[in-house]
Amino acid sequence: MSTVARVTVPMFRARKGQTPLVVVTAYDAPQGRLADAAGVDAILIGDSLGMTTLGYDTTLPVTLDDLILHARAVARGQATRTVEKNASEDAVRGARHALLVGDLPFGSYGISVEDGVRSGVRMMQEGNVQAVKVEGASETIEETTRRLVALGVPVMAHVGLTPQAVHRFGGFKVQGRTDDEGDRILTDVRRMADAGAFGVVLELMPSDLARRITAAVPIPTIGIGAGPDCDGQVQVLHDLLGLTDGRLPRHAHRYVDAARVIQTAVSEYAGDVRARRFPTADNSF
Ligand code: KIV
Repeated sequence: MSTVARVTVPMFRARKGQTPLVVVTAYDAPQGRLADAAGVDAILIGDSLGMTTLGYDTTLPVTLDDLILHARAVARGQATRTVEKNASEDAVRGARHALLVGDLPFGSYGISVEDGVRSGVRMMQEGNVQAVKVEGASETIEETTRRLVALGVPVMAHVGLTPQAVHRFGGFKVQGRTDDEGDRILTDVRRMADAGAFGVVLELMPSDLARRITAAVPIPTIGIGAGPDCDGQVQVLHDLLGLTDGRLPRHAHRYVDAARVIQTAVSEYAGDVRARRFPTADNSF
Protein backbone atom coordinates (compact mmCIF):
# COMPACT_ATOMS: atom_id res chain seq x y z
CA MET A 1 0.00 0.00 0.00
CA SER A 2 1.19 3.57 -0.57
CA THR A 3 -0.19 6.86 0.68
CA VAL A 4 -1.71 9.36 -1.73
CA ALA A 5 -0.85 12.99 -2.41
CA ARG A 6 -3.32 15.74 -1.73
CA VAL A 7 -5.21 18.34 -3.78
CA THR A 8 -3.60 21.58 -2.58
CA VAL A 9 -5.05 25.08 -2.40
CA PRO A 10 -2.91 26.29 -5.37
CA MET A 11 -4.06 23.23 -7.39
CA PHE A 12 -7.68 23.98 -6.51
CA ARG A 13 -7.28 27.62 -7.46
CA ALA A 14 -5.57 26.76 -10.75
CA ARG A 15 -8.68 24.81 -11.83
CA LYS A 16 -10.48 28.12 -12.57
CA GLY A 17 -12.08 27.76 -16.02
CA GLN A 18 -10.92 24.10 -16.35
CA THR A 19 -12.74 20.80 -15.68
CA PRO A 20 -15.39 21.61 -13.04
CA LEU A 21 -14.30 21.13 -9.42
CA VAL A 22 -16.30 18.58 -7.41
CA VAL A 23 -16.97 19.37 -3.75
CA VAL A 24 -19.16 17.43 -1.33
CA THR A 25 -19.83 17.69 2.40
CA ALA A 26 -18.94 14.97 4.92
CA TYR A 27 -19.30 14.82 8.68
CA ASP A 28 -17.68 11.64 10.02
CA ALA A 29 -14.87 9.16 9.37
CA PRO A 30 -16.69 6.67 7.08
CA GLN A 31 -18.14 9.53 5.02
CA GLY A 32 -14.68 11.12 4.76
CA ARG A 33 -13.15 7.84 3.60
CA LEU A 34 -15.89 7.11 1.04
CA ALA A 35 -16.14 10.64 -0.36
CA ASP A 36 -12.38 10.66 -0.73
CA ALA A 37 -12.36 7.26 -2.44
CA ALA A 38 -14.98 8.58 -4.88
CA GLY A 39 -12.34 11.03 -6.11
CA VAL A 40 -13.87 14.41 -5.22
CA ASP A 41 -11.57 17.45 -5.30
CA ALA A 42 -12.57 18.86 -1.92
CA ILE A 43 -14.58 17.77 1.11
CA LEU A 44 -16.37 20.45 3.11
CA ILE A 45 -17.05 19.80 6.77
CA GLY A 46 -20.02 22.13 6.56
CA ASP A 47 -22.11 23.57 9.35
CA SER A 48 -24.99 21.84 7.53
CA LEU A 49 -23.82 19.27 10.13
CA GLY A 50 -26.51 20.93 12.27
CA MET A 51 -29.31 19.75 10.00
CA THR A 52 -27.88 16.58 8.47
CA THR A 53 -26.47 15.04 11.64
CA LEU A 54 -27.34 16.91 14.83
CA GLY A 55 -31.09 17.29 14.28
CA TYR A 56 -31.31 21.11 14.28
CA ASP A 57 -33.54 23.18 11.95
CA THR A 58 -30.76 25.60 11.00
CA THR A 59 -26.98 25.85 11.16
CA LEU A 60 -27.11 28.46 13.93
CA PRO A 61 -26.69 26.21 17.02
CA VAL A 62 -23.56 24.50 15.64
CA THR A 63 -20.44 25.45 17.62
CA LEU A 64 -16.77 25.60 16.71
CA ASP A 65 -16.15 22.64 19.05
CA ASP A 66 -18.84 20.62 17.17
CA LEU A 67 -17.26 21.36 13.80
CA ILE A 68 -13.72 20.66 15.00
CA LEU A 69 -14.80 17.27 16.40
CA HIS A 70 -16.43 16.30 13.09
CA ALA A 71 -13.60 17.71 10.96
CA ARG A 72 -11.08 15.58 12.88
CA ALA A 73 -13.26 12.52 12.26
CA VAL A 74 -13.45 13.23 8.51
CA ALA A 75 -9.67 13.73 8.38
CA ARG A 76 -9.11 10.45 10.23
CA GLY A 77 -11.45 8.61 7.85
CA GLN A 78 -9.73 10.12 4.83
CA ALA A 79 -6.32 9.14 6.20
CA THR A 80 -7.32 5.47 6.31
CA ARG A 81 -7.57 5.37 2.51
CA THR A 82 -4.46 4.16 0.72
CA VAL A 83 -3.71 3.10 -2.85
CA GLU A 84 -2.55 -0.38 -3.85
CA LYS A 85 1.24 -0.64 -4.04
CA ASN A 86 1.19 -1.74 -7.67
CA ALA A 87 -1.38 0.84 -8.81
CA SER A 88 -0.64 2.54 -12.13
CA GLU A 89 0.62 6.14 -12.14
CA ASP A 90 -2.77 7.23 -13.49
CA ALA A 91 -4.58 5.49 -10.64
CA VAL A 92 -2.33 7.17 -8.09
CA ARG A 93 -2.79 10.57 -9.76
CA GLY A 94 -6.55 10.05 -9.89
CA ALA A 95 -6.64 8.98 -6.27
CA ARG A 96 -5.44 12.15 -4.62
CA HIS A 97 -6.73 12.98 -1.20
CA ALA A 98 -9.36 15.71 -1.39
CA LEU A 99 -8.65 19.15 0.05
CA LEU A 100 -10.40 19.40 3.44
CA VAL A 101 -12.24 22.66 4.12
CA GLY A 102 -13.73 23.31 7.57
CA ASP A 103 -16.64 25.72 8.02
CA LEU A 104 -16.38 28.39 10.67
CA PRO A 105 -19.78 28.40 12.43
CA PHE A 106 -22.09 31.28 13.33
CA GLY A 107 -20.66 33.57 16.00
CA SER A 108 -17.11 32.21 15.78
CA TYR A 109 -16.08 35.04 13.40
CA GLY A 110 -17.52 38.34 12.22
CA ILE A 111 -17.86 39.86 15.70
CA SER A 112 -14.24 40.95 15.92
CA VAL A 113 -11.24 40.29 13.68
CA GLU A 114 -9.27 38.79 16.61
CA ASP A 115 -12.01 36.26 17.44
CA GLY A 116 -12.35 35.24 13.79
CA VAL A 117 -8.60 34.80 13.36
CA ARG A 118 -8.44 32.66 16.52
CA SER A 119 -11.36 30.52 15.29
CA GLY A 120 -9.71 30.00 11.90
CA VAL A 121 -6.43 29.00 13.51
CA ARG A 122 -8.22 26.57 15.86
CA MET A 123 -10.07 24.95 12.95
CA MET A 124 -6.79 24.44 11.06
CA GLN A 125 -4.80 23.26 14.06
CA GLU A 126 -7.39 21.07 15.82
CA GLY A 127 -9.69 20.15 12.91
CA ASN A 128 -6.84 18.91 10.73
CA VAL A 129 -8.19 20.71 7.63
CA GLN A 130 -6.25 22.62 4.97
CA ALA A 131 -8.62 25.60 4.64
CA VAL A 132 -11.60 27.27 6.31
CA LYS A 133 -14.83 28.76 4.92
CA VAL A 134 -16.62 31.90 6.08
CA GLU A 135 -20.04 33.24 5.07
CA GLY A 136 -20.64 36.87 4.07
CA ALA A 137 -18.34 39.76 3.33
CA SER A 138 -18.70 42.41 6.05
CA GLU A 139 -15.67 44.63 6.66
CA THR A 140 -14.81 42.49 9.71
CA ILE A 141 -14.97 39.27 7.66
CA GLU A 142 -12.92 40.83 4.85
CA GLU A 143 -10.22 41.89 7.35
CA THR A 144 -10.38 38.51 9.12
CA THR A 145 -9.75 36.84 5.76
CA ARG A 146 -6.77 39.10 5.06
CA ARG A 147 -5.25 38.29 8.46
CA LEU A 148 -5.91 34.54 8.23
CA VAL A 149 -4.40 34.33 4.75
CA ALA A 150 -1.33 36.26 5.97
CA LEU A 151 -0.99 33.71 8.78
CA GLY A 152 -1.17 30.79 6.34
CA VAL A 153 -4.83 29.84 6.73
CA PRO A 154 -6.47 29.61 3.26
CA VAL A 155 -10.01 31.00 3.23
CA MET A 156 -12.95 30.09 1.02
CA ALA A 157 -15.70 32.72 0.81
CA HIS A 158 -19.47 32.08 0.62
CA VAL A 159 -22.03 34.58 -0.73
CA GLY A 160 -25.63 34.67 -1.98
CA LEU A 161 -27.85 32.72 0.40
CA THR A 162 -25.63 32.45 3.47
CA PRO A 163 -27.54 30.07 5.78
CA GLN A 164 -26.09 31.61 8.96
CA ALA A 165 -28.14 34.73 8.07
CA VAL A 166 -31.33 32.76 7.30
CA HIS A 167 -33.42 34.84 9.70
CA ARG A 168 -32.31 38.10 8.08
CA PHE A 169 -33.35 36.67 4.69
CA GLY A 170 -36.65 35.36 6.11
CA GLY A 171 -35.97 31.80 4.88
CA PHE A 172 -33.77 29.82 2.50
CA LYS A 173 -34.53 32.12 -0.47
CA VAL A 174 -32.85 32.82 -3.80
CA GLN A 175 -30.67 35.96 -3.55
CA GLY A 176 -29.53 38.48 -6.19
CA ARG A 177 -32.73 38.62 -8.20
CA THR A 178 -32.52 42.39 -8.79
CA ASP A 179 -29.69 44.20 -10.61
CA ASP A 180 -28.76 46.09 -7.44
CA GLU A 181 -28.59 42.91 -5.34
CA GLY A 182 -26.59 41.15 -8.08
CA ASP A 183 -24.12 44.07 -8.25
CA ARG A 184 -23.74 44.00 -4.48
CA ILE A 185 -22.99 40.24 -4.48
CA LEU A 186 -20.42 40.68 -7.28
CA THR A 187 -18.76 43.51 -5.32
CA ASP A 188 -18.65 41.27 -2.23
CA VAL A 189 -16.92 38.48 -4.19
CA ARG A 190 -14.38 40.95 -5.62
CA ARG A 191 -13.60 42.27 -2.11
CA MET A 192 -13.17 38.75 -0.71
CA ALA A 193 -10.93 37.76 -3.66
CA ASP A 194 -8.85 40.92 -3.05
CA ALA A 195 -8.60 39.96 0.63
CA GLY A 196 -7.03 36.66 -0.46
CA ALA A 197 -9.92 34.13 -0.61
CA PHE A 198 -8.89 31.22 -2.89
CA GLY A 199 -12.44 30.30 -3.92
CA VAL A 200 -16.05 31.26 -3.31
CA VAL A 201 -19.27 29.34 -2.82
CA LEU A 202 -22.20 30.92 -4.69
CA GLU A 203 -25.39 29.67 -3.04
CA LEU A 204 -28.94 30.03 -4.38
CA MET A 205 -28.78 32.74 -7.01
CA PRO A 206 -29.94 33.08 -10.62
CA SER A 207 -27.70 31.22 -13.08
CA ASP A 208 -27.12 34.45 -15.08
CA LEU A 209 -25.69 36.19 -12.03
CA ALA A 210 -23.46 33.21 -11.18
CA ARG A 211 -22.19 33.16 -14.79
CA ARG A 212 -21.45 36.91 -14.60
CA ILE A 213 -19.57 36.54 -11.30
CA THR A 214 -17.63 33.51 -12.59
CA ALA A 215 -16.47 35.51 -15.63
CA ALA A 216 -15.56 38.56 -13.55
CA VAL A 217 -13.44 37.16 -10.72
CA PRO A 218 -10.03 35.40 -10.74
CA ILE A 219 -10.94 32.71 -8.18
CA PRO A 220 -12.99 29.53 -8.76
CA THR A 221 -16.72 29.85 -8.07
CA ILE A 222 -18.35 26.78 -6.53
CA GLY A 223 -22.10 26.75 -7.06
CA ILE A 224 -24.96 25.27 -5.10
CA GLY A 225 -28.25 26.26 -6.66
CA ALA A 226 -26.33 28.70 -8.88
CA GLY A 227 -26.63 26.96 -12.26
CA PRO A 228 -24.21 25.04 -14.46
CA ASP A 229 -21.69 27.75 -15.35
CA CYS A 230 -19.69 27.95 -12.12
CA ASP A 231 -16.12 26.62 -11.93
CA GLY A 232 -17.37 23.78 -9.71
CA GLN A 233 -20.31 22.45 -7.74
CA VAL A 234 -20.84 21.61 -4.07
CA GLN A 235 -23.61 19.42 -2.69
CA VAL A 236 -24.68 18.25 0.75
CA LEU A 237 -23.86 14.52 1.00
CA HIS A 238 -27.20 13.66 2.64
CA ASP A 239 -29.12 15.20 -0.29
CA LEU A 240 -27.17 13.06 -2.80
CA LEU A 241 -27.69 9.91 -0.73
CA GLY A 242 -31.41 10.36 -0.04
CA LEU A 243 -30.87 10.78 3.70
CA THR A 244 -32.43 14.23 3.88
CA ASP A 245 -35.55 14.35 6.00
CA GLY A 246 -38.43 16.05 4.16
CA ARG A 247 -38.41 17.77 0.79
CA LEU A 248 -35.22 17.68 -1.29
CA PRO A 249 -34.05 21.20 -2.25
CA ARG A 250 -34.64 21.98 -5.94
CA HIS A 251 -30.90 22.40 -6.54
CA ALA A 252 -30.13 18.84 -5.35
CA HIS A 253 -30.38 15.44 -7.02
CA ARG A 254 -30.90 12.14 -5.14
CA TYR A 255 -28.48 9.57 -6.58
CA VAL A 256 -29.56 6.76 -4.25
CA ASP A 257 -32.39 6.19 -1.74
CA ALA A 258 -30.11 5.27 1.17
CA ALA A 259 -32.89 5.97 3.70
CA ARG A 260 -34.89 3.11 2.19
CA VAL A 261 -31.84 0.83 2.01
CA ILE A 262 -31.02 1.44 5.69
CA GLN A 263 -34.60 1.07 6.92
CA THR A 264 -35.09 -2.15 4.93
CA ALA A 265 -31.85 -3.63 6.27
CA VAL A 266 -32.67 -2.77 9.88
CA SER A 267 -36.20 -4.15 9.64
CA GLU A 268 -34.89 -7.37 8.04
CA TYR A 269 -32.49 -7.69 10.97
CA ALA A 270 -35.37 -7.10 13.44
CA GLY A 271 -37.46 -9.78 11.68
CA ASP A 272 -34.56 -12.26 11.74
CA VAL A 273 -33.93 -11.72 15.47
CA ARG A 274 -37.62 -12.13 16.34
CA ALA A 275 -37.89 -15.29 14.23
CA ARG A 276 -34.58 -16.62 15.67
CA ARG A 277 -33.00 -16.68 12.17
CA PHE A 278 -30.14 -14.49 13.50
CA PRO A 279 -27.58 -15.21 14.84
CA THR A 280 -26.88 -18.44 12.95
CA ALA A 281 -24.27 -21.06 13.82
CA ASP A 282 -21.86 -19.13 11.58
CA ASN A 283 -22.24 -16.05 13.78
CA SER A 284 -21.71 -18.01 16.98
CA PHE A 285 -18.71 -19.31 18.90
O1 KIV B 1 -22.55 23.86 5.37
C1 KIV B 1 -22.61 23.52 4.18
O2 KIV B 1 -22.92 22.37 3.85
C2 KIV B 1 -22.33 24.54 3.17
C3 KIV B 1 -22.62 24.17 1.76
C4 KIV B 1 -24.06 24.23 1.51
C5 KIV B 1 -21.86 25.02 0.80
O3 KIV B 1 -21.92 25.60 3.49
